[in-house]
Amino acid sequence: MNDRQEPGAARSAGVTYQQLLDTDPFPVPESLREVAPKYLGSADVPIERYISRQWHEREVERLWKRVWQAACREEQIPDPGCHVLYEIANVSLVIMRGDDGRIRAFYNACLHRGRALKDHGGRCSIIRCPYHGFAWSLQGELQDVPARWDFPHVDDAAFALPEVRVGTWGGWVFVNMDPDAEPLEQHLGELPRHFERWALEDRYIQAHVHKVIRCNWKVAQEAFCESYHVGGTHPQALPYLGDVNSQVDIWDTVARVITPGGTASPLLGWTPSEDEILRYMLDIRVDEENFFTAGDQSARAVSAAAARERWRPVVGDRVDQWSDAEFIDNIDYTLFPNLHPWGAYNRICYRFRPNGDDHRTCIMEVFLLAPFSGPRPAPAATTYLGPDDDWTDAPELGMLAKVFQQDAFNMPRVQRGLETMTKPGVTLANYQESKVRWLHDLLGRWVEG
Ligand code: FES
Ligand SMILES: [Fe+2]
Repeated sequence: MNDRQEPGAARSAGVTYQQLLDTDPFPVPESLREVAPKYLGSADVPIERYISRQWHEREVERLWKRVWQAACREEQIPDPGCHVLYEIANVSLVIMRGDDGRIRAFYNACLHRGRALKDHGGRCSIIRCPYHGFAWSLQGELQDVPARWDFPHVDDAAFALPEVRVGTWGGWVFVNMDPDAEPLEQHLGELPRHFERWALEDRYIQAHVHKVIRCNWKVAQEAFCESYHVGGTHPQALPYLGDVNSQVDIWDTVARVITPGGTASPLLGWTPSEDEILRYMLDIRVDEENFFTAGDQSARAVSAAAARERWRPVVGDRVDQWSDAEFIDNIDYTLFPNLHPWGAYNRICYRFRPNGDDHRTCIMEVFLLAPFSGPRPAPAATTYLGPDDDWTDAPELGMLAKVFQQDAFNMPRVQRGLETMTKPGVTLANYQESKVRWLHDLLGRWVEG
Protein backbone atom coordinates (compact mmCIF):
# COMPACT_ATOMS: atom_id res chain seq x y z
CA MET A 1 0.00 0.00 0.00
CA ASN A 2 2.78 2.41 0.98
CA ASP A 3 5.85 2.58 3.17
CA ARG A 4 4.02 3.13 6.43
CA GLN A 5 4.96 0.98 9.36
CA GLU A 6 2.16 -1.53 9.89
CA PRO A 7 1.08 -1.58 13.53
CA GLY A 8 2.44 -4.79 14.89
CA ALA A 9 5.14 -5.06 12.25
CA ALA A 10 7.54 -2.56 13.79
CA ARG A 11 9.67 -3.64 16.68
CA SER A 12 10.86 -1.46 19.48
CA ALA A 13 12.81 -2.76 22.44
CA GLY A 14 11.79 -6.24 21.35
CA VAL A 15 8.05 -5.62 21.79
CA THR A 16 5.58 -5.50 18.90
CA TYR A 17 2.44 -3.46 19.08
CA GLN A 18 0.40 -6.64 18.76
CA GLN A 19 2.19 -8.04 21.80
CA LEU A 20 1.28 -4.92 23.74
CA LEU A 21 -2.34 -5.38 22.79
CA ASP A 22 -2.18 -9.05 23.71
CA THR A 23 -0.70 -8.36 27.13
CA ASP A 24 -3.01 -5.42 27.77
CA PRO A 25 -6.44 -6.49 26.63
CA PHE A 26 -7.71 -3.08 25.64
CA PRO A 27 -11.05 -3.74 23.96
CA VAL A 28 -10.70 -2.85 20.29
CA PRO A 29 -13.06 -4.88 18.13
CA GLU A 30 -11.37 -5.94 14.90
CA SER A 31 -14.27 -4.81 12.76
CA LEU A 32 -13.94 -1.23 14.02
CA ARG A 33 -10.26 -1.00 13.22
CA GLU A 34 -11.09 -1.50 9.60
CA VAL A 35 -12.99 1.74 9.28
CA ALA A 36 -9.86 3.91 9.16
CA PRO A 37 -8.65 2.80 5.71
CA LYS A 38 -11.45 4.69 3.97
CA TYR A 39 -9.50 7.85 4.84
CA LEU A 40 -6.35 6.62 3.13
CA GLY A 41 -5.01 8.47 0.15
CA SER A 42 -7.42 11.43 0.16
CA ALA A 43 -6.44 14.60 -1.68
CA ASP A 44 -4.28 17.28 -0.06
CA VAL A 45 -5.99 19.64 2.39
CA PRO A 46 -6.43 23.05 0.72
CA ILE A 47 -4.40 25.87 2.31
CA GLU A 48 -7.45 28.16 2.23
CA ARG A 49 -8.93 26.27 5.15
CA TYR A 50 -6.24 27.77 7.37
CA ILE A 51 -5.68 31.21 5.89
CA SER A 52 -8.79 32.38 4.05
CA ARG A 53 -11.14 34.84 5.72
CA GLN A 54 -13.94 33.70 3.43
CA TRP A 55 -13.45 30.09 4.45
CA HIS A 56 -13.49 31.10 8.11
CA GLU A 57 -16.78 32.96 7.64
CA ARG A 58 -18.32 29.92 5.99
CA GLU A 59 -16.94 27.78 8.79
CA VAL A 60 -18.62 30.02 11.37
CA GLU A 61 -22.00 29.95 9.61
CA ARG A 62 -22.04 26.32 8.57
CA LEU A 63 -20.04 24.60 11.28
CA TRP A 64 -19.84 26.55 14.55
CA LYS A 65 -23.44 27.81 14.37
CA ARG A 66 -24.75 24.32 13.66
CA VAL A 67 -22.60 21.74 15.39
CA TRP A 68 -22.76 20.37 18.94
CA GLN A 69 -19.79 21.75 20.85
CA ALA A 70 -18.58 21.50 24.44
CA ALA A 71 -19.23 24.81 26.19
CA CYS A 72 -18.19 24.12 29.80
CA ARG A 73 -18.14 21.50 32.53
CA GLU A 74 -21.24 20.98 34.66
CA GLU A 75 -19.13 21.42 37.78
CA GLN A 76 -18.36 25.00 36.73
CA ILE A 77 -22.02 25.93 37.30
CA PRO A 78 -23.01 23.80 40.30
CA ASP A 79 -25.82 25.94 41.79
CA PRO A 80 -28.78 28.03 40.59
CA GLY A 81 -27.52 31.34 39.20
CA CYS A 82 -24.02 30.04 38.49
CA HIS A 83 -23.08 30.88 34.93
CA VAL A 84 -20.16 30.97 32.53
CA LEU A 85 -19.72 32.62 29.15
CA TYR A 86 -19.03 30.50 26.12
CA GLU A 87 -17.78 32.46 23.15
CA ILE A 88 -17.29 31.09 19.68
CA ALA A 89 -16.41 33.33 16.73
CA ASN A 90 -18.77 36.34 17.02
CA VAL A 91 -21.34 34.59 19.23
CA SER A 92 -21.46 34.90 23.00
CA LEU A 93 -23.64 32.58 25.09
CA VAL A 94 -24.48 32.64 28.80
CA ILE A 95 -24.59 29.09 30.14
CA MET A 96 -26.83 29.37 33.21
CA ARG A 97 -28.01 26.96 35.91
CA GLY A 98 -31.68 27.77 36.63
CA ASP A 99 -33.63 27.73 39.89
CA ASP A 100 -35.01 24.40 38.70
CA GLY A 101 -31.48 22.98 38.44
CA ARG A 102 -31.65 22.84 34.64
CA ILE A 103 -28.86 24.21 32.51
CA ARG A 104 -29.86 26.63 29.74
CA ALA A 105 -27.85 28.64 27.24
CA PHE A 106 -28.98 32.16 26.31
CA TYR A 107 -27.62 34.48 23.66
CA ASN A 108 -25.66 37.06 25.61
CA ALA A 109 -27.60 40.08 24.37
CA CYS A 110 -30.20 42.28 26.02
CA LEU A 111 -33.49 42.38 24.13
CA HIS A 112 -33.81 46.12 24.83
CA ARG A 113 -30.88 47.68 22.99
CA GLY A 114 -28.48 44.83 22.76
CA ARG A 115 -25.91 45.23 25.51
CA ALA A 116 -24.18 41.99 26.48
CA LEU A 117 -26.05 40.76 29.54
CA LYS A 118 -22.93 39.34 31.18
CA ASP A 119 -19.31 40.39 30.86
CA HIS A 120 -17.96 37.31 32.63
CA GLY A 121 -19.04 34.25 34.57
CA GLY A 122 -20.15 34.29 38.20
CA ARG A 123 -23.33 33.79 40.22
CA CYS A 124 -26.49 35.89 40.28
CA SER A 125 -30.09 35.69 41.44
CA ILE A 126 -31.50 37.52 38.42
CA ILE A 127 -30.14 38.38 34.97
CA ARG A 128 -30.19 42.18 34.98
CA CYS A 129 -28.80 44.20 32.10
CA PRO A 130 -26.35 46.81 33.41
CA TYR A 131 -27.42 49.44 30.84
CA HIS A 132 -31.09 50.34 31.62
CA GLY A 133 -31.93 47.51 33.98
CA PHE A 134 -34.21 45.13 32.05
CA ALA A 135 -34.14 41.86 34.00
CA TRP A 136 -34.88 38.18 33.41
CA SER A 137 -35.24 35.19 35.71
CA LEU A 138 -32.57 32.50 35.68
CA GLN A 139 -34.97 30.59 33.39
CA GLY A 140 -34.99 33.47 30.91
CA GLU A 141 -38.50 34.86 31.62
CA LEU A 142 -38.85 38.65 31.52
CA GLN A 143 -39.13 39.86 35.12
CA ASP A 144 -38.60 43.58 35.24
CA VAL A 145 -38.71 46.58 32.93
CA PRO A 146 -37.90 49.85 34.69
CA ALA A 147 -40.67 52.43 33.95
CA ARG A 148 -42.73 49.67 32.46
CA TRP A 149 -45.51 52.17 31.50
CA ASP A 150 -43.27 53.38 28.67
CA PHE A 151 -43.13 49.92 27.05
CA PRO A 152 -46.75 48.92 26.40
CA HIS A 153 -45.52 47.26 23.22
CA VAL A 154 -43.25 44.83 25.06
CA ASP A 155 -44.92 41.47 25.29
CA ASP A 156 -43.51 39.36 28.13
CA ALA A 157 -43.65 36.09 26.23
CA ALA A 158 -41.94 37.57 23.20
CA PHE A 159 -39.27 39.03 25.48
CA ALA A 160 -38.17 35.70 26.96
CA LEU A 161 -34.43 35.29 26.36
CA PRO A 162 -33.77 33.26 23.22
CA GLU A 163 -32.14 29.95 24.06
CA VAL A 164 -29.87 27.58 22.21
CA ARG A 165 -30.06 23.83 22.65
CA VAL A 166 -28.18 22.24 25.53
CA GLY A 167 -27.18 18.64 26.24
CA THR A 168 -24.81 16.96 28.66
CA TRP A 169 -22.48 14.01 28.55
CA GLY A 170 -19.48 13.00 30.66
CA GLY A 171 -19.75 16.08 32.86
CA TRP A 172 -19.57 18.34 29.78
CA VAL A 173 -22.27 20.82 28.80
CA PHE A 174 -22.76 20.92 25.04
CA VAL A 175 -24.56 23.64 23.10
CA ASN A 176 -25.95 23.83 19.60
CA MET A 177 -27.29 26.99 17.95
CA ASP A 178 -29.17 25.08 15.26
CA PRO A 179 -32.75 24.33 16.36
CA ASP A 180 -32.92 21.62 13.70
CA ALA A 181 -29.70 19.86 14.66
CA GLU A 182 -29.64 16.14 15.35
CA PRO A 183 -29.89 15.16 19.04
CA LEU A 184 -26.62 15.33 20.98
CA GLU A 185 -26.73 11.56 21.52
CA GLN A 186 -26.54 11.05 17.78
CA HIS A 187 -23.61 13.43 17.43
CA LEU A 188 -21.70 11.69 20.24
CA GLY A 189 -21.92 8.43 18.32
CA GLU A 190 -19.56 5.81 19.75
CA LEU A 191 -18.04 8.03 22.40
CA PRO A 192 -20.30 7.22 25.41
CA ARG A 193 -19.85 3.49 24.86
CA HIS A 194 -16.07 3.83 24.90
CA PHE A 195 -16.07 5.98 28.03
CA GLU A 196 -18.47 3.82 30.07
CA ARG A 197 -15.44 2.41 31.80
CA TRP A 198 -13.76 5.79 32.37
CA ALA A 199 -16.74 7.93 33.52
CA LEU A 200 -15.60 11.48 32.83
CA GLU A 201 -18.61 12.73 34.81
CA ASP A 202 -16.90 11.40 37.93
CA ARG A 203 -13.86 13.63 37.44
CA TYR A 204 -13.18 17.17 38.60
CA ILE A 205 -11.18 19.96 37.01
CA GLN A 206 -7.81 19.61 38.67
CA ALA A 207 -6.27 22.17 36.30
CA HIS A 208 -7.54 24.35 33.46
CA VAL A 209 -5.23 26.39 31.23
CA HIS A 210 -6.50 28.64 28.43
CA LYS A 211 -3.95 29.90 25.92
CA VAL A 212 -4.15 32.14 22.87
CA ILE A 213 -1.94 30.93 20.02
CA ARG A 214 -1.14 32.75 16.79
CA CYS A 215 -2.47 30.20 14.33
CA ASN A 216 -5.74 28.93 12.93
CA TRP A 217 -7.49 26.59 15.39
CA LYS A 218 -6.99 23.63 13.06
CA VAL A 219 -3.21 24.14 12.99
CA ALA A 220 -3.19 23.81 16.79
CA GLN A 221 -5.65 20.92 16.90
CA GLU A 222 -3.88 18.92 14.21
CA ALA A 223 -0.67 18.99 16.26
CA PHE A 224 -2.57 16.77 18.70
CA CYS A 225 -4.05 14.43 16.10
CA GLU A 226 -0.97 12.37 15.32
CA SER A 227 2.23 11.10 16.89
CA TYR A 228 4.21 11.40 13.68
CA HIS A 229 5.62 14.75 14.89
CA VAL A 230 7.18 13.26 18.03
CA GLY A 231 10.56 12.57 16.41
CA GLY A 232 10.88 16.13 15.08
CA THR A 233 9.21 18.06 17.89
CA HIS A 234 9.64 15.95 21.03
CA PRO A 235 12.77 13.88 20.31
CA GLN A 236 13.28 13.32 24.04
CA ALA A 237 10.22 11.04 23.95
CA LEU A 238 11.52 8.63 21.32
CA PRO A 239 13.11 6.24 23.85
CA TYR A 240 9.73 5.62 25.50
CA LEU A 241 7.01 6.34 22.94
CA GLY A 242 6.09 4.10 20.01
CA ASP A 243 5.18 7.14 17.90
CA VAL A 244 4.93 5.60 14.43
CA ASN A 245 3.48 2.38 15.85
CA SER A 246 0.30 4.30 16.66
CA GLN A 247 -3.06 2.86 15.76
CA VAL A 248 -5.77 5.09 14.28
CA ASP A 249 -9.49 4.28 14.53
CA ILE A 250 -12.38 6.25 13.13
CA TRP A 251 -16.12 6.06 13.82
CA ASP A 252 -18.01 8.82 12.03
CA THR A 253 -17.89 11.75 14.54
CA VAL A 254 -15.28 10.10 16.77
CA ALA A 255 -11.66 9.29 16.07
CA ARG A 256 -8.87 7.88 18.17
CA VAL A 257 -5.10 7.49 18.07
CA ILE A 258 -3.46 5.01 20.44
CA THR A 259 0.25 5.52 20.86
CA PRO A 260 1.98 2.84 22.91
CA GLY A 261 3.97 4.16 25.86
CA GLY A 262 6.85 2.53 27.71
CA THR A 263 8.27 1.22 24.47
CA ALA A 264 10.79 2.87 22.19
CA SER A 265 10.13 4.41 18.81
CA PRO A 266 11.18 2.34 15.80
CA LEU A 267 12.73 5.59 14.52
CA LEU A 268 15.21 5.70 17.40
CA GLY A 269 18.70 4.91 16.16
CA TRP A 270 19.61 2.79 19.20
CA THR A 271 17.91 0.25 21.43
CA PRO A 272 17.39 1.50 24.97
CA SER A 273 17.41 -0.88 27.92
CA GLU A 274 14.28 -1.11 30.03
CA ASP A 275 16.01 1.08 32.65
CA GLU A 276 16.83 3.68 30.03
CA ILE A 277 13.21 3.70 28.87
CA LEU A 278 12.14 4.34 32.45
CA ARG A 279 14.67 7.12 32.92
CA TYR A 280 13.48 8.91 29.78
CA MET A 281 9.85 8.45 30.76
CA LEU A 282 10.42 10.00 34.14
CA ASP A 283 12.85 12.65 32.89
CA ILE A 284 15.63 11.35 35.16
CA ARG A 285 19.20 12.19 34.21
CA VAL A 286 21.60 9.32 33.64
CA ASP A 287 23.97 10.50 36.38
CA GLU A 288 21.18 10.79 38.93
CA GLU A 289 21.29 8.22 41.72
CA ASN A 290 18.26 7.20 43.75
CA PHE A 291 16.44 5.64 40.86
CA PHE A 292 14.47 2.43 40.92
CA THR A 293 15.20 -0.03 38.13
CA ALA A 294 13.01 -2.22 36.01
CA GLY A 295 14.77 -5.33 37.29
CA ASP A 296 13.63 -8.26 35.19
CA GLN A 297 10.39 -6.54 34.24
CA SER A 298 9.62 -4.30 31.28
CA ALA A 299 9.60 -0.52 31.75
CA ARG A 300 6.00 -0.72 30.69
CA ALA A 301 5.04 -3.12 33.47
CA VAL A 302 6.99 -1.16 36.09
CA SER A 303 5.53 2.20 35.15
CA ALA A 304 1.99 0.78 34.95
CA ALA A 305 2.42 -0.70 38.43
CA ALA A 306 3.64 2.68 39.72
CA ALA A 307 0.67 4.47 38.15
CA ARG A 308 -1.70 1.88 39.60
CA GLU A 309 -0.38 2.53 43.10
CA ARG A 310 -0.59 6.29 42.54
CA TRP A 311 -4.33 6.02 41.87
CA ARG A 312 -5.12 3.37 44.50
CA PRO A 313 -5.56 5.85 47.38
CA VAL A 314 -8.02 7.82 45.23
CA VAL A 315 -10.14 5.15 43.56
CA GLY A 316 -9.40 2.09 45.68
CA ASP A 317 -8.86 -1.45 44.48
CA ARG A 318 -10.68 -0.82 41.21
CA VAL A 319 -7.19 -0.07 39.88
CA ASP A 320 -6.53 -3.82 39.86
CA GLN A 321 -9.11 -4.20 37.10
CA TRP A 322 -7.40 -1.64 34.89
CA SER A 323 -4.98 -2.87 32.26
CA ASP A 324 -1.41 -1.69 31.82
CA ALA A 325 -2.44 -0.12 28.50
CA GLU A 326 -5.02 2.02 30.29
CA PHE A 327 -2.27 3.47 32.44
CA ILE A 328 0.57 3.74 29.96
CA ASP A 329 -0.69 4.25 26.42
CA ASN A 330 -1.69 7.61 25.00
CA ILE A 331 -5.30 6.99 24.00
CA ASP A 332 -6.33 10.25 22.42
CA TYR A 333 -9.97 10.55 21.35
CA THR A 334 -11.41 13.38 19.30
CA LEU A 335 -15.09 14.25 19.14
CA PHE A 336 -15.73 16.30 16.03
CA PRO A 337 -15.13 19.14 15.74
CA ASN A 338 -12.82 20.13 18.60
CA LEU A 339 -12.95 18.16 21.87
CA HIS A 340 -10.07 15.79 22.72
CA PRO A 341 -10.71 13.73 25.84
CA TRP A 342 -7.92 11.26 26.44
CA GLY A 343 -9.19 7.80 27.19
CA ALA A 344 -8.48 5.59 30.19
CA TYR A 345 -6.96 7.11 33.30
CA ASN A 346 -4.98 9.82 31.64
CA ARG A 347 -6.45 13.10 32.86
CA ILE A 348 -5.89 15.24 29.77
CA CYS A 349 -8.63 16.84 27.71
CA TYR A 350 -8.04 19.51 25.05
CA ARG A 351 -10.44 21.92 23.38
CA PHE A 352 -9.58 24.09 20.36
CA ARG A 353 -11.56 26.91 18.73
CA PRO A 354 -11.10 30.21 16.92
CA ASN A 355 -10.09 33.13 19.13
CA GLY A 356 -13.18 35.29 18.79
CA ASP A 357 -13.70 36.07 15.15
CA ASP A 358 -10.00 36.00 14.26
CA HIS A 359 -9.16 33.07 12.01
CA ARG A 360 -5.41 33.63 12.41
CA THR A 361 -5.39 33.09 16.18
CA CYS A 362 -7.01 30.44 18.30
CA ILE A 363 -7.66 29.29 21.84
CA MET A 364 -6.26 26.01 23.04
CA GLU A 365 -7.39 24.79 26.43
CA VAL A 366 -6.02 21.98 28.54
CA PHE A 367 -8.19 20.45 31.25
CA LEU A 368 -6.80 17.91 33.69
CA LEU A 369 -9.85 15.88 34.72
CA ALA A 370 -8.94 13.85 37.77
CA PRO A 371 -10.79 11.14 39.70
CA PHE A 372 -11.47 11.92 43.36
CA SER A 373 -12.74 10.24 46.49
CA GLY A 374 -15.14 11.80 48.99
CA PRO A 375 -16.91 15.10 48.28
CA ARG A 376 -16.36 16.64 44.86
CA PRO A 377 -13.43 19.10 45.04
CA ALA A 378 -14.01 22.61 43.71
CA PRO A 379 -12.80 23.03 40.12
CA ALA A 380 -9.41 24.71 39.76
CA ALA A 381 -9.33 28.34 38.71
CA THR A 382 -8.46 28.94 35.07
CA THR A 383 -4.98 30.13 34.16
CA TYR A 384 -5.08 32.47 31.16
CA LEU A 385 -1.98 32.59 28.95
CA GLY A 386 -1.51 35.15 26.19
CA PRO A 387 0.18 34.45 22.86
CA ASP A 388 3.58 35.45 24.24
CA ASP A 389 3.28 33.47 27.48
CA ASP A 390 4.89 30.05 27.79
CA TRP A 391 2.98 26.93 28.76
CA THR A 392 5.56 26.60 31.51
CA ASP A 393 3.90 29.66 33.10
CA ALA A 394 1.19 27.18 34.11
CA PRO A 395 3.09 25.00 36.63
CA GLU A 396 -0.10 23.06 37.40
CA LEU A 397 0.51 21.17 34.15
CA GLY A 398 3.76 19.70 35.49
CA MET A 399 5.94 17.96 32.90
CA LEU A 400 3.23 18.37 30.26
CA ALA A 401 3.91 22.11 30.09
CA LYS A 402 7.34 21.53 28.54
CA VAL A 403 5.83 19.22 25.94
CA PHE A 404 3.09 21.72 25.05
CA GLN A 405 5.73 24.43 24.79
CA GLN A 406 7.50 22.35 22.14
CA ASP A 407 4.21 21.98 20.24
CA ALA A 408 3.32 25.65 20.62
CA PHE A 409 6.75 26.67 19.30
CA ASN A 410 5.80 25.24 15.90
CA MET A 411 2.27 26.56 15.61
CA PRO A 412 2.72 30.26 14.68
CA ARG A 413 5.51 29.13 12.37
CA VAL A 414 3.18 26.67 10.65
CA GLN A 415 0.66 29.48 10.17
CA ARG A 416 3.40 31.76 8.77
CA GLY A 417 4.54 29.02 6.42
CA LEU A 418 1.01 28.34 5.21
CA GLU A 419 0.46 32.04 4.50
CA THR A 420 3.48 32.11 2.19
CA MET A 421 3.26 28.62 0.68
CA THR A 422 2.71 28.41 -3.07
CA LYS A 423 1.69 24.74 -3.06
CA PRO A 424 -2.12 24.67 -2.92
CA GLY A 425 -2.48 22.09 -0.17
CA VAL A 426 -0.78 20.26 2.70
CA THR A 427 0.12 16.63 2.11
CA LEU A 428 -0.68 14.04 4.76
CA ALA A 429 0.73 10.64 5.60
CA ASN A 430 -1.58 7.88 4.50
CA TYR A 431 -2.01 6.17 7.85
CA GLN A 432 -0.39 8.09 10.66
CA GLU A 433 -2.12 11.35 9.81
CA SER A 434 -5.48 9.82 9.02
CA LYS A 435 -7.12 11.53 12.00
CA VAL A 436 -6.26 14.82 10.28
CA ARG A 437 -7.79 13.44 7.07
CA TRP A 438 -10.91 12.50 9.00
CA LEU A 439 -11.19 15.96 10.51
CA HIS A 440 -10.97 17.58 7.09
CA ASP A 441 -13.30 15.10 5.50
CA LEU A 442 -16.00 16.01 8.02
CA LEU A 443 -15.15 19.71 7.86
CA GLY A 444 -15.48 19.63 4.11
CA ARG A 445 -18.90 18.04 4.41
CA TRP A 446 -20.08 20.64 6.94
CA VAL A 447 -18.53 23.74 5.37
CA GLU A 448 -18.54 22.97 1.66
CA GLY A 449 -21.13 20.23 1.37
S1 FES B 1 -29.69 47.58 26.67
FE1 FES B 1 -30.25 46.29 28.24
S2 FES B 1 -31.61 47.39 29.45
FE2 FES B 1 -31.15 48.70 27.83
FE1 LIG C 1 3.20 17.16 20.46
